[in-house]
Amino acid sequence: MKISDALSKRFDSTLMKSILEILADQKYIESVTDVESPRFLNRSVVPHMSALSQMFNRLDSKDKTAPQEPVASGLKNYWRAARNPKNFILGYVLGYMPGNAMRVASVWSELLRLGYTGIGQDGPIRAIELGAGPGSGAIGIALGESFSSGPKKSFDWTLYEQDRGIGELGSRFVERVHSDLGLDAQVQAVHRKLSINDFLQPKNSKPAELFLTSYFMNELAESSEEIAEAFLKRWDKELATEALVILVEPALKVESRKLLAFRKAILDRLAHRKGSRYQILLPCLGHQACEALENPKDWCHEEVTWWRPELTRTLDRLAGLDRKSLPYSYLVIAKTNRSIEEILPNAFPSRNRVHRLVSPVHFEGKDSEFFVCGEDGKRRVRFRTDADLGRGSLLVGAEIRGEKEAGRVDRVKQVVE
Ligand SMILES: C[S@@+](CC[C@H](N)C(=O)[O-])C[C@H]1O[C@@H](n2cnc3c(N)ncnc32)[C@H](O)[C@@H]1O
Repeated sequence: MKISDALSKRFDSTLMKSILEILADQKYIESVTDVESPRFLNRSVVPHMSALSQMFNRLDSKDKTAPQEPVASGLKNYWRAARNPKNFILGYVLGYMPGNAMRVASVWSELLRLGYTGIGQDGPIRAIELGAGPGSGAIGIALGESFSSGPKKSFDWTLYEQDRGIGELGSRFVERVHSDLGLDAQVQAVHRKLSINDFLQPKNSKPAELFLTSYFMNELAESSEEIAEAFLKRWDKELATEALVILVEPALKVESRKLLAFRKAILDRLAHRKGSRYQILLPCLGHQACEALENPKDWCHEEVTWWRPELTRTLDRLAGLDRKSLPYSYLVIAKTNRSIEEILPNAFPSRNRVHRLVSPVHFEGKDSEFFVCGEDGKRRVRFRTDADLGRGSLLVGAEIRGEKEAGRVDRVKQVVE
């Protein structure tokens, strides 16, 4: 995903200092200067980052014969099971939260780029994040919003998290980051284990307008179809008439395909209804069948490049990671009575059909080669152009000839870089 240079640098050392101050205040570290010691990081943070990575990738360290292809399985509450729960949480907060926040920020910034203005028209955006952990998703929305060109929205967040320890940190981080970024936010936390059939909103509260999950759905044990059935019921009942659903998940093939299967399960259910009330916005700008899902070897993921805060760079070096770019899978759905052209006006500058780049661009001689998604599905194309194309660029009114695996763009009416 292309994001502005300013946003790519926004999770900086100043913001990290705010996080460290809260960690010190809550006795996760003795002082903000603890993290200046490689010895401290090597002992108290890096081993937990590795353990978390092993667990998230569903890799079993003991069974050397285990297949390297991970399987899609839910996860139990791991925060409590850790041998040193405080340092385990520290490993997640310092090792994973900034990257996840940046992933979500990139999705919000893309929605703003495409002209999305649907929610938060009559006061603060009423938003919920499920499985919020340290509030990475809410922090990401704040980061993205802080660069919106119009008047800044304010937020009324409810963060749902089964574990009180990480959840309490989460609400503090979310409050502090909004304030650091000059945004107004109310934050309330609900600490309980959710089941997919729970009804979230207290009776008589105004329905939520933003339903956000970040790296949460893959921890549920249910199938994509079961989750789709339950979530759709919730969205029908609990979300405002005009609302937005943002789901961010790992880029791993197995998790990404689970999200694609979820998209299909939602579409299958919508097909049986009169008047859909839902629009799939991103990554694919529509309801077309997903060809990545049809091919068992394929999947669909995004990537965003950022400037890591210094502490993240140090931790990456110590942990042998290189996370200059952040891969992820995502799905954005609007609950709305409007058409997608009205919801994302900048993606549809005219009545022409639109193809969106969903892969990086490679050069083949003078041609650019990439994958696009449009109403005719996913296809690989070559295009000779001087435009600065990248993930998310739009080809408006493209004339494409040839096979799905080897098409050529002959002409476009407009390129939105
Ligand atoms: C990988 S973390 C993601 C945290 C945060 N959203 C992020 O992007 O960094 C997943 C979180 O979901 C929480 N979680 C998983 N299943 C849950 C459930 N059934 N109810 C409430 N929280 C749950 C876990 O405790 C964990 O904090």
